[in-house]
Amino acid sequence: MSMNYKEIMNKLYEEIIEKVSVGIHAVDYEGKTIIYNNKMRDMEAMDKEDVLHKNVRDVFKFQDNQSSTLLQSLESGTEIVNVKQTYFNNRGIEITTVNNTFPLVVNERILAAVEIATDVTKIERLMRHKVRQSKTDFTFQQIIGESNELIEVISLAKRATRTNSNVLIIGETGTGKELFAQSIHADSDRVHGPYISQNCAALPDSLIEGILFGTTKGAFTGSIDSPGLFEQAQGGTLLLDELNSLNLALQAKLLRVLQERKVRRIGGSKEISIDVRVIATVNEDPIDAVANNRLRKDLYYRLAVVNLLIPPLRERMEDISLLVKEFIKKYNELFNLNVAGISEEVLALFQSHNWPGNVRELEHVIEASMNLINHEQFIELHHLPYQYRQKRKNEATPINHALMESVLTHLDSNLHNQLELFEKQYIELALKKNGQHITNTAQALGISRQSLQYRMKRLGIKAQK
Ligand SMILES: Nc1ncnc2c1ncn2[C@@H]1O[C@H](COP(=O)(O)OP(=O)(O)OP(=O)(O)O)[C@@H](O)[C@H]1O
Ligand SMILES: [Mg+2]
Repeated sequence: MSMNYKEIMNKLYEEIIEKVSVGIHAVDYEGKTIIYNNKMRDMEAMDKEDVLHKNVRDVFKFQDNQSSTLLQSLESGTEIVNVKQTYFNNRGIEITTVNNTFPLVVNERILAAVEIATDVTKIERLMRHKVRQSKTDFTFQQIIGESNELIEVISLAKRATRTNSNVLIIGETGTGKELFAQSIHADSDRVHGPYISQNCAALPDSLIEGILFGTTKGAFTGSIDSPGLFEQAQGGTLLLDELNSLNLALQAKLLRVLQERKVRRIGGSKEISIDVRVIATVNEDPIDAVANNRLRKDLYYRLAVVNLLIPPLRERMEDISLLVKEFIKKYNELFNLNVAGISEEVLALFQSHNWPGNVRELEHVIEASMNLINHEQFIELHHLPYQYRQKRKNEATPINHALMESVLTHLDSNLHNQLELFEKQYIELALKKNGQHITNTAQALGISRQSLQYRMKRLGIKAQK
């Protein structure tokens, strides 16, 4: 089939409209849809048939008596620029867009109107979600543990509730950082103010700045007047989770906000005073994070007025029994069971496990095991998830006595030096076996990648390439 020039151009226009990454919706002089592009269908979760050739008034519902910008433009013959609109599609799904709308006027007659829309539903939801999250579930009573290490952190944290100082919580994943942050908030005189938490690793750089500090209308395409989390946390507590994932430029900006106690929205000129307590968390040693350019040193000092170091579970194995008891109690109630405890064998296995996922991992093991229990009184090995049962088979083989003795006669017998030397050689061997691949080696050794890198640094091991 051959096409003339005009047909080719028309086809091309159609294709372009379908392919662009903004929503395009056009109506004729009556308000019936004549163009409804792919992106718009995607944003509004509608099919072409739901909308095309139908009147906009019949398809969408607008909030209160706010009418559609498309219809407004059609009726008034004027251009409407950068207006945010929230409405509902025919299945009641809420949509938020920022629109530029203009009429097509020929010979002073309005023939049609076109809307070009950017989807901000996700941003909008994120912002609102955070505000709704202003509820804390945890208090110090829920922090379980009897080890000296944990009791000491708890008492430090309790002391921090009396001041407004910034707090830095350091701990591996699952050690209870969020638990501590919420408890501090709940015990402080900010308890009636908002508690807002934001994970710095969960969002792209391009979004997080606006989310933290707020945006103004017109600052960038589709931007709206919106308060940032600092403003939303006014009078309360803002938890910045995984701060070491925030890019360094934003860390500098954050430092300024903490120093001046003022924020300025992106594109804004007004400085807004803020009264917010900031709690930040990092999941690695902050000294390492500073050394590796993941945390600005000046920000670190600013935040670390109170430093809470939550030790990993493997360094406070005394807490296991109490935690197990509490988790069994919790799931007895939830699952309507009557489990009394764990068997000796399971306890021994727990005591020898290194718990890379810390307390969260322990809770999951208990929950998973209690899903498998019938009428037994105790959690037995066979109730445990597969990888734990498997682990027993992989348990360390004791080094035979003759070998040990020969080692002892050859080397000085200071235990600490021996262990270090052994650790060094063992890791070097494991690295060699795994082709110097850090992640694989860490996995084979049953430790985290960070932990392996930390040990290599301490023992002076360089990965050979
Ligand atoms: N000492 C504790 N007593 C009781 N429950 C705990 C304790 N520590 C952690 N938990 C539980 O373990 C889970 C993980 O805790 P939390 O979310 O606070 O960890 P986190 O350090 O913030 O982890 P991540 O770095 O992965 O975000 C939660 O369900 C929490 O209730
Ligand atoms: Mg957390």
